[in-house]
Amino acid sequence: MPQVLNIKVKVPHRSYDIKIGGNILADFPHQLKQLVEGRQIIIVSNSIIYGYHGQQVKEGLIEHGFDVVTYLVPDGEEYKTWQEAEKILTTLLEAGFNRDAVIAALGGGVIGDLAGFVASIYQRGIDLVQLPTTLLAQVDSSVGGKVAVNHPLGKNMIGAFHQPLGVWTDLRALNTLPEREWTAGLAEVVKYGVIWDEDFFDYLEKNVQNIKNRDLAVVREVIGRSCQIKAEIVGQDEKEQGIRAVLNFGHTIGHALEKVTEYKVYRHGEAVAIGMVCAAKVAVYLELCSVQIVERLESLLKKLGLPVEMPNVSSDLILGSLYLDKKVKKKELVLILPRRIGQVEIIRGITPQTIKDCIDRP
Ligand code: NAD
Ligand code: GLY
Repeated sequence: MPQVLNIKVKVPHRSYDIKIGGNILADFPHQLKQLVEGRQIIIVSNSIIYGYHGQQVKEGLIEHGFDVVTYLVPDGEEYKTWQEAEKILTTLLEAGFNRDAVIAALGGGVIGDLAGFVASIYQRGIDLVQLPTTLLAQVDSSVGGKVAVNHPLGKNMIGAFHQPLGVWTDLRALNTLPEREWTAGLAEVVKYGVIWDEDFFDYLEKNVQNIKNRDLAVVREVIGRSCQIKAEIVGQDEKEQGIRAVLNFGHTIGHALEKVTEYKVYRHGEAVAIGMVCAAKVAVYLELCSVQIVERLESLLKKLGLPVEMPNVSSDLILGSLYLDKKVKKKELVLILPRRIGQVEIIRGITPQTIKDCIDRP
């Protein structure tokens, strides 16, 4: 396998590369210089991530002639807000950043979404580069151009589609990632197997131990294949008019669970794992797939260390939250449900009673 994987994302008005390898952050400043005219760049990160990986990026950029400003966001989902975006905008204005300036998001999905949102609106949009440092960000949030901040009334409610100029995915950045964050990111990896690629699901089943040990070659394969699948889907449907919705497998119920537990109990990936199992149970209930699909999915998720059981929360609370989800169009419940491993369908008109029965069933 090559040391650096290069995956192309082709969307109507922009094509860009995802570079995946062991020391990608070292190559990033030189490669960026070839891509952009401007020399003003802001690194948006948080103090934990910047403490581990920021200095290398900053020094590399300065060596390559960039004027570097740094903005550190406090750590946590609660800072993915309009208020924080406004502070970054103020920093850009005070530093005299023009339309050739670049925003570099060095971090997980929170930093990527927030910095990306600012890039989408500053002077009607400036270049964004994604330097993802969590597994979730490397396989999902850094790819595909969804950027957003949260509103008190709902997660990701203020946002845009703003594709990056490129994604530099450094596998070494994952060495400092806490175990729980690593495991949570694996839920999105399993998702790709279920929605798109049974061979990939088989590969994950056969490599559980290597994945848990973070074996470098296996990690590169897992991240690379996940990005290829996401690039393929986003390339077909950039703005989620159709097929891109399959990426939401497990997310509708997962988001509802995150919300009713006030974002304090589950990491996003953990809630998605429970949401995927619940969605698979709905598929069995509706006779769309066999119970073996649920068993296979549950077994892989459990072996990877992810939760699979819906906790003891009222199904009415979950249902109430489901109706607030932006994926619930005109009060019609739409879920992504598996037909088999490697194939899902967008199913409309699912009744609240069906969801309730599947959640309440032991
Ligand atoms: P996160 O960004 O909060 O990062 C998780 C934790 O890991 C944080 O405490 C962070 O400081 C720490 N961290 C990050 N990289 C580290 C590293 N290399 N070493 C040590 N610590 C590190 O969480 P996340 O799971 O990456 O992202 C979740 C966010 O992503 C949510 O806001 C979600 O809505 C968003 N998301 C967006 C998309 C999209 O398409 N835009 C897709 C999925 C999720
Ligand atoms: N994370 C879902 C999407 O990018 O569409």
